Amino acid sequence: MTPGARLAAAIEILESVDTANTAADSIIRAYFRPRRYAGSKDRRAVGERVFDVIRHRTRLDWWIAGAAGDMQPSARLRVLASVLILDGETLANVNSLFDGSAHSPSTLAPAERQLAENLEGKSLLHEAMPTGVINEVPEWLDETLQNLWGDRYGQEMASLNAPAPVDIRVNSGRVSREQARKSLSIENIKTELTELSPVGLRLIERARMEDTKAFRKGLIEVQDEGSQLIALLCEAKPGMTVVDYCAGAGGKTLALADAMGLQGAEAANSTLVACDISTQRLSGMDERLKRCGVENVQKLVLNDKESLAALEGTADRVLVDVPCSGTGAWRRHPEARWRLTPDRLDEHVREQQKVLVAASRLVKPRGHLIYATCSFLPVENEKQVKTFIGQNPSFIALPIANIWRRVTPAPCPPAETGIHLTPASTDTDGFFCAVMQRTA
Ligand SMILES: C[S@@+](CC[C@H](N)C(=O)[O-])C[C@H]1O[C@@H](n2cnc3c(N)ncnc32)[C@H](O)[C@@H]1O
Repeated sequence: MTPGARLAAAIEILESVDTANTAADSIIRAYFRPRRYAGSKDRRAVGERVFDVIRHRTRLDWWIAGAAGDMQPSARLRVLASVLILDGETLANVNSLFDGSAHSPSTLAPAERQLAENLEGKSLLHEAMPTGVINEVPEWLDETLQNLWGDRYGQEMASLNAPAPVDIRVNSGRVSREQARKSLSIENIKTELTELSPVGLRLIERARMEDTKAFRKGLIEVQDEGSQLIALLCEAKPGMTVVDYCAGAGGKTLALADAMGLQGAEAANSTLVACDISTQRLSGMDERLKRCGVENVQKLVLNDKESLAALEGTADRVLVDVPCSGTGAWRRHPEARWRLTPDRLDEHVREQQKVLVAASRLVKPRGHLIYATCSFLPVENEKQVKTFIGQNPSFIALPIANIWRRVTPAPCPPAETGIHLTPASTDTDGFFCAVMQRTA
């Protein structure tokens, strides 16, 4: 692909990101699937352009708004601005990229040319930018985040706006961390031990895990270190009855299965139930379970009221990994910032309380109810836990720092009602986790 064709591809993909509800990386993959002529360098260059524009969108839009006259920011104008501001290209080079030839973007219209002239030589940051713009945060969330993080606001957002590393969870029932690491290094994949999760590895350079022997044999799974920690904080053990109430495609179910020894001799003594409202999502775990040699996970679609009733008061552990705003995963899905609205957030908050109440019925006396989100917003986190405990006095919040110390030798991050993980503070995705216990 020519440099111009790469820009045209980025514009087309960004237009889809603006209108679809699909993750940007899936849109990029779908774009290239029928375009076999594009080589790996083209795919990488286009992908980087798309993510660069998304990660810098508010600041690019600020410049466009100040310099584009009546034109509204669009995928095309953002790509144009990114070439001038992020790449520092000259107007002459921009004209040769937007030259209207076969696969390149069409030539600049007079108003676009004027915009390009105004943006030439500009640097991304400007002292007149408001904090929400500097931090790439939707305006309606700016005040909430200022209150949440205070002096750390800039640092937290910069980390949430940076690309995420690739983490691996080692199936410790089948292989040690060192053995998995060695197996990957034989295939030239360099990793380091994760600092917080005792079962994690972090890739030093990006690589496709799906092609490795360790992955195909079910020795490893791709999973952010923060997710690994949530599963560990459940303290699931062989012989227990454990329910993963919002299991989705089973990321944490697989980690729980490993902790419970479901890949070995303990399989017959333990019960692991994976629930979800979505049959389709649940079926996404079948292949993963098979690959990891986990056979006896019971899947339960939540419209099956009878099976659910049979589980009431029986579970040692119920993990409620609720549907949430996903703000903690912004470094993987930076486009999600623009899709979240106050109404959507309200919907999540209402649903979370309902799910928590329904899931709590399955917990047996002295059993644990583990509430988790991949969000840093208090309204989805400690506020939900406090509301739940206020209305359900048979549950108490357990001091999570004690649980943390039992599952990892790493120092515990500051914790009150629950534990907060963020890219800036723990170098993981953003998560919240609180553990409650049903009193006897
Ligand atoms: C954060 S995702 C779960 C991710 C999964 N635990 C993992 O580690 O891969 C939330 C899941 O909650 C499910 N969900 C949404 N509403 C629900 C409800 N009312 N009850 C149970 N699950 C629900 C969604 O289908 C989605 O799969």
